[in-house]
Amino acid sequence: MSDSSAVNHSLINKRILLGVSGGIAAYKSAELIRRLQVAGADVRVVMTRAAQEFITPLTLQALSGNPVHHSMLDPEAEAAMGHIELARWADLILIAPASADVIARLAAGEGNDLLTTVCLASKAPLALAPAMNQAMYSHLATQANLTLLTERKLHIFGPANGVQACGDVGPGRMLEADELVNASAALFQSGLLAGKKVVISAGPTREAIDPVRYISNHSSGKMGYALASACVEAGALVTLISGPTKLDCPSHVKRINTISAADMHAACTDQASACDLFIGAAAVADFRPLAAADQKMKKQDGSEQLTLTLVKNPDIIKAVSALLPRPFTVGFAAETENVLGYARDKLKRKNLDAIIANDVATEGTGFNSDDNAATLISPKFEQNFDRRSKNQLARDLINAISKIMA
Ligand code: C5P
Repeated sequence: MSDSSAVNHSLINKRILLGVSGGIAAYKSAELIRRLQVAGADVRVVMTRAAQEFITPLTLQALSGNPVHHSMLDPEAEAAMGHIELARWADLILIAPASADVIARLAAGEGNDLLTTVCLASKAPLALAPAMNQAMYSHLATQANLTLLTERKLHIFGPANGVQACGDVGPGRMLEADELVNASAALFQSGLLAGKKVVISAGPTREAIDPVRYISNHSSGKMGYALASACVEAGALVTLISGPTKLDCPSHVKRINTISAADMHAACTDQASACDLFIGAAAVADFRPLAAADQKMKKQDGSEQLTLTLVKNPDIIKAVSALLPRPFTVGFAAETENVLGYARDKLKRKNLDAIIANDVATEGTGFNSDDNAATLISPKFEQNFDRRSKNQLARDLINAISKIMA
């Protein structure tokens, strides 16, 4: 594991709308974009008119990799991603630098440019990094505005004390990029699984028929990988035991690659004995060929059929739930009919603490798609999660699971 501190993990996959207002500290926004991206965030930028006097939209566009938004009145930009879509897109709006003017406009609830309008239209948390001359910062009007915004649950990062661009010394310097990244990350860190060890199986297994052929299934691994990221965000130390997938290992996750159900069984039982939570998200092949041929199998002349003898694979999650001591064990039930009925039965049969039931026959959810819907079932509790991105579903499931575990 590259890093066991959880603070910066929580920006992975987060959508951060960076608002840049006018001030000399606007040049620091360039570095901030880069640092947020390194922490795993997807960044889009909204600039005020004054900000464009200090740094060009082109610079921030090149760094963020996305068009910079600056006008409410540009039909082309509105058609591509309008102000309401931007407001909905954001997981966090961070205004850095936040000038005295933008702070005053936010306090007054104004919507007289794109940035303030997006802030009004968004349900995302809003954080400000004030940056201005020390006299402007200390002015009663600015202080009253900041107090009002704090009462409205806005987050104020900084400012720092020190020498200012104008030569004054005092409070009003924008925090450095890494301090803003840490402060933003801390907003997402639930700490619900702080210090817990989590093992997650994910992806398909491949059962060899011969050196070039295998039996497998359509599992992409996306749900298990999203759960691994969500557990990292919640402060856990995560090991992902993955069948063959095309996915990159999420940051701060230790991945053990496996191919067959037998490999996965060995890795899971080995790792799960020392963990607090095991989630079996893998689509394990139920059967494997009795013996894989040593050489590529040839077509037999005159034979129109091939008979393979399959034998049952070990049930990995059942083996994990039989361990002593056993981790809190959560399985998946991917079904095409009678989803909840089969899931409840599996919960008992496999001696699980909870099971995540999902309908893989529905278009747009389940195997290989980016979205999913699920029902979390434990012996005393059922909660339905309607369709949402696998990343969001993973966060919501981990939130709910950590509460059942507590
Ligand atoms: O029995 P079924 O495959 O429907 O059960 C699904 C759950 O059991 C999933 O959590 C899956 O990861 C787990 N499983 C397993 N080993 C198997 C088959 C399924 O761990 N051989």
